[in-house]
Amino acid sequence: MAELRFDGKVAVVTGAGHGLGRSHALMLAERGAKVVVNDLGGARDGSGASAGPAAQVVAEIEERGGTAVVSADNVATPEGAQAIVRTALDTFGRIDIVVNNAGLLRDKSIGKMTVEEFDSVIAVHVRGSFLVSHAAFPHLKSQGYGRIVNTSSPSGLFGSFGQANYSTAKMGLVGMTKTFALEGARANIKVNAIAPVAWTRMTEGLMPADFEERLTPARVTPLVVYLCHDQCETSGEVFSVGGGRIARVFVAEGPGWKQDEHSVEDIQDNWSTITAEQPYLTPTTLGDQSAASFKAML
Ligand code: NAI
Repeated sequence: MAELRFDGKVAVVTGAGHGLGRSHALMLAERGAKVVVNDLGGARDGSGASAGPAAQVVAEIEERGGTAVVSADNVATPEGAQAIVRTALDTFGRIDIVVNNAGLLRDKSIGKMTVEEFDSVIAVHVRGSFLVSHAAFPHLKSQGYGRIVNTSSPSGLFGSFGQANYSTAKMGLVGMTKTFALEGARANIKVNAIAPVAWTRMTEGLMPADFEERLTPARVTPLVVYLCHDQCETSGEVFSVGGGRIARVFVAEGPGWKQDEHSVEDIQDNWSTITAEQPYLTPTTLGDQSAASFKAML
C-alpha cells in the first residue's frame, strides 16, 4: 500500500505546542507537509502566553528533517486567526489543511461557573475554530482543494458533569463541521471532526495512571492525518478515536409516532413510541439528515 504523503501541502495545526496538536504536527511534517505550528503557549486553563511550546515543536520537526514555522497567535481573535493563516501564506505560499485543535478547560458546575468561564471556553473552541477556518476558506476555495479537521469531544457528544462551557463548545463544533462540509463540497473542501480520548496535560488528572501508555496522542493522530489527505473523500462526519479504536459517531432519529391532530395527553400515551430507537433513520451522505427528517414527518 502506497504511503499517504503530503509533499507540497501546507498545514496549520492550532494548539500544537502540546498533546494532540503536537502529535498531529509531527506526523504531518514527517509525511512531507510544511507545518504552521500554532500555540498561544498558555497554561491548561488558557492563562498566560509564550512562544516557547510552539518553538520547541518546530525544533523537533526540523531535527527530524521536516519543515515548520512558529505561530504564537491567539485563535480566538480575528487578528490572531488571520495572522495564523498569513504565516502559512507568507512562509510557504499556500494553505491546504487546517486542524483546529487549540483548547482549554475551565471546569465548574453550572452553579459555580462564571459567565467569563463560559465565554472564554466558547471563544477558544468554537470561535477559534470558526475564525481560523474563516480566514483559510477563501484560499481553499480558490484553489479547489482543502481539508479541515475540527476537534470535538465525547463531553460534547454525550454530556459531562462540570463542563457546561466545554460540552456546549464541543457539540457546537459538530454543527459547524456539518455546515462547513456542505458549504465546502463544491470546492472539494472536506471537513470532519474527531472526538478523541488521549492522555495529555488536559486529561492526566482525570484518568487512572495506567491509561497513559494506552491512550497516547499517537493513537489519535493517524485518523487526523488520514482525514487531512486528498485521498479521503469523507466529509461532514464525526469520529470517536482513542486507545486504538476508531468509530463513526452519527446523529440518528427514531421511527417516531404520527397523528396529525394530537393532544398533550396523546403525547403522554404514546411516549414509548416517540422515544423508541429502532429502526432508526440515519443519514448516510451529506444532506440526507433533512431528507430523513422530512420522510419521517410525512
Ligand atoms: P493540551 O492542553 O495539551 O493542548 C491544547 C493546546 O492548545 C495547548 O498547547 C494550548 O496552549 C493551546 N491553546 C489554548 N488556547 C489557545 C489559543 N487561544 N490559541 C492558540 N493555542 C491555544 O490538550 P489536548 O488534550 O492535547 O487537547 C487538544 C484538543 O483536543 C483540545 O481541543 C481538547 O479540547 C480536545 N480534546 C482532548 C481530549 C483528550 O482526551 N485529551 C478529549 C476530547 C477533546
